[in-house]
Amino acid sequence: MLETTASPPSQNAERTNPLRAGIESDRIADPCSIVFFGASGDLFKRMLLPAIWTLRTRGILPAGFALVGFARTKFSDDEFREYCKSQLDEFAPEGMKPQGELWEKFAPCLSYITADFKQLGHFQQLRKRLDENDKAFGTASNRLFYLATPPSVFPGIIDMLRRANLDPRSNERGWTRIVIEKPFGIDLESSRALQKTVERVFGEHDVYRIDHYLGKEPVQDIMALRFANTIFEPIWNRNYVQSVQITSAEKIGIEDRGSYYENAGALRDMIQNHVLNLLALVAMEPPASSEADAIRNEKFKVFSAIAPPRHDDVMAMSARGQYGPGIVDGEKVPGYRQEQGVAPQSNTETFAALRIGIDNWRWAGVPFYLRSGKRLAKKISEIVVTFKPIPHRLYGESTDAIEPNMLVIKIEPDEGIALRWEAKVPGPKSHIRSVFMDFNYGTGFGFHSPPAYERLLADAMRGDQTLFTRWDAVELAWEIIAPVLDVWQNTKDFSFPNYAAGSQGPETGFRLLHDWRRL
Ligand code: BG6
Repeated sequence: MLETTASPPSQNAERTNPLRAGIESDRIADPCSIVFFGASGDLFKRMLLPAIWTLRTRGILPAGFALVGFARTKFSDDEFREYCKSQLDEFAPEGMKPQGELWEKFAPCLSYITADFKQLGHFQQLRKRLDENDKAFGTASNRLFYLATPPSVFPGIIDMLRRANLDPRSNERGWTRIVIEKPFGIDLESSRALQKTVERVFGEHDVYRIDHYLGKEPVQDIMALRFANTIFEPIWNRNYVQSVQITSAEKIGIEDRGSYYENAGALRDMIQNHVLNLLALVAMEPPASSEADAIRNEKFKVFSAIAPPRHDDVMAMSARGQYGPGIVDGEKVPGYRQEQGVAPQSNTETFAALRIGIDNWRWAGVPFYLRSGKRLAKKISEIVVTFKPIPHRLYGESTDAIEPNMLVIKIEPDEGIALRWEAKVPGPKSHIRSVFMDFNYGTGFGFHSPPAYERLLADAMRGDQTLFTRWDAVELAWEIIAPVLDVWQNTKDFSFPNYAAGSQGPETGFRLLHDWRRL
């Protein structure tokens, strides 16, 4: 006979919700001071500060915590606290606005240094502030430096940290780590130069290179899908997979980042990092353990199995585009060349697509198609694994197309997994039609995924490098795209602009692959 046990009356509805089974609170981070270089900038106010505040409200920040802003804009400590409050009023998630006792207790641990990144004296002042924080807030001499500045000043800051004895070797009582925002260099050569600077001051285990896509919950789930289930792995290879498409499309344009984007373009901005990291998660072998380096070794092996294209092959394996004026959400929007900070004859691509091959036993002969672009019809990031067609047709009227099975890993805006399969349409005839089995995280777990930066900041404070990129893989990712960058930079595309804002992208993209999944 089945016995039932009544839940204790104190158990709240949240905890008994079966959808939430297995969702635990995160481990509390180590006590530390976190220093944001570039704390008056956009990234800090929109992403980093709200993430820190959310970690505080969710009880994940340690009791011993202090935050130091370090940037050019002039602020006193009190003005900085006011600034942070006003930004949180705007950018913190609903229901988590700064107020009451929680905020009153949090505000004093915020402080600010108005700084010139070239002045050693300002870094010495920072060291003093961090020592004071250890005493006042119990931050245990642990220091997390976060570079949220334009990349051009990364090397200068790293060098100053060494000169001001803020490097890990000078900190005998606690840990010193550095978080480096993307882009890590603007090409192979500059990334190697930056790495040389980093290595002079930090060991690889102190370096946390951010690729915020790795912090997105559905991206982390790619490994769970593959390695916490048995049914996918046997068919996850060249014998069953026809092709893989990875798309990261955006509806927005370049916003106010014209001067950055002109020197970046879609290939550097999205493909070299976010999209290639998605490819690595789809293509990697099962790691022997869930240790950070066991996983990162497998990603590295994927990149080492991709031969960079020969210069002569670049045009055949790639497509580029640049948006012209168009209509987005019913509104007229300007073309890329009309955006602020963009040259009137700009050759920068706002759309990039590549066909990549992975030369190993599992994937030989399976094309991986990658695409990313601004001002496309929709904001969507997804991975589509298309399986081979059936070998022999038994069902369906002659006019029915029998589509191959397809697994769609939906990263955003929807988060979930969908499987396309063929089913008999009810009725006397034997019509066959595609249907989807569709799983959504929101309904599956009754839980909204936390923003990527929250997870990544907490991991850096805990010393978990799993979701951060390792130098050897970053270098290979630059090697893979280097010939494409080279050819594109040296060959002006006279067809630009070649797609309208708000469209499916340029015709050249469809020449590379005619059946991209529609945006
Ligand atoms: C950033 C790029 O890394 O990613 C931006 O620099 C892009 O150009 C952004 O808009 C996209 O991120 P998400 O999380 O909105 O897909």
